[in-house]
Amino acid sequence: RRLGPVQGGRVQRVTTNLVILTGAGVSAESGLGTFRDTGGIWSKFDPMKLATPEGFAADPEAVHAFYNARRDNLLAATPNPAHHALAELERAWREERRGDFLLVTQNIDNLHEQAGSEALLHMHGELLKSRCERCGHLFEHTDALSLERVCEGCGKAGGLRPHVVWFGEMPLGLDRIYEALARCDLFVAVGTSGTVYPAAGFVQEALSAGAHTVELSLEPGEVSALFAERHHGPASRVVPEWARRAGGRA
Ligand code: APR
Repeated sequence: RRLGPVQGGRVQRVTTNLVILTGAGVSAESGLGTFRDTGGIWSKFDPMKLATPEGFAADPEAVHAFYNARRDNLLAATPNPAHHALAELERAWREERRGDFLLVTQNIDNLHEQAGSEALLHMHGELLKSRCERCGHLFEHTDALSLERVCEGCGKAGGLRPHVVWFGEMPLGLDRIYEALARCDLFVAVGTSGTVYPAAGFVQEALSAGAHTVELSLEPGEVSALFAERHHGPASRVVPEWARRAGGRA
């Protein structure tokens, strides 16, 4: 899909709509844990107790403690070359009007933002945001959440929760994601195990749209076989290498 139809003797410059999906692997070298690798977060903590609405209802303080600790880790973390390469690629895409660009992340950290990414969609929410289950007030914060913390929206305590999508809850932005996948020419999955749906199914949507598909990850994921192109290794090396090739194409 690189060269377009020749009209009036001139090759029409075609655009390449790019959708990138990132998972925990893109932030691993920034010191934030992945979930399913050896020693991953779910090998130390029970997702059913700490990442479900039922778990939160049963023991909200345990859930607050879990996310408060992860928020503290995030505040000490900085983007790695993979985050920066994706932000630079987005700038090149926009400046050269190469086509649409959307970065969908399953991560709740803010390292893509810190690296300068703008066309960014957090489909599993954001750890530095919380919301009140009583009044819906959504706010950004870096300090700890607790049951006692008073909501600035309704002035009541006891209703605050992390603005994070738990198992069994609807991911955010799916309409926009499926619309972008239906039009994409290039789909790149970075640092995700392809075990959690609907994100693991995005490569299938991209293939149906006729897109070229690329997996950049330390190891092959569950849906690795569906990718036309695969580069395995640490994201801080593999992502900049790929982005240079993708960004550099005339
Ligand atoms: N560089 C590149 N990839 C890496 C690196 C690294 N340094 N380290 C690990 N990976 C890869 C692993 O090979 C694996 O494919 O990152 C992936 C991590 O997979 P998971 O831990 O399952 O993380 P993720 O795919 O993002 O999980 C999806 O599950 O628990 C839910 O909501 C949570 O968003 C999360 C979702």
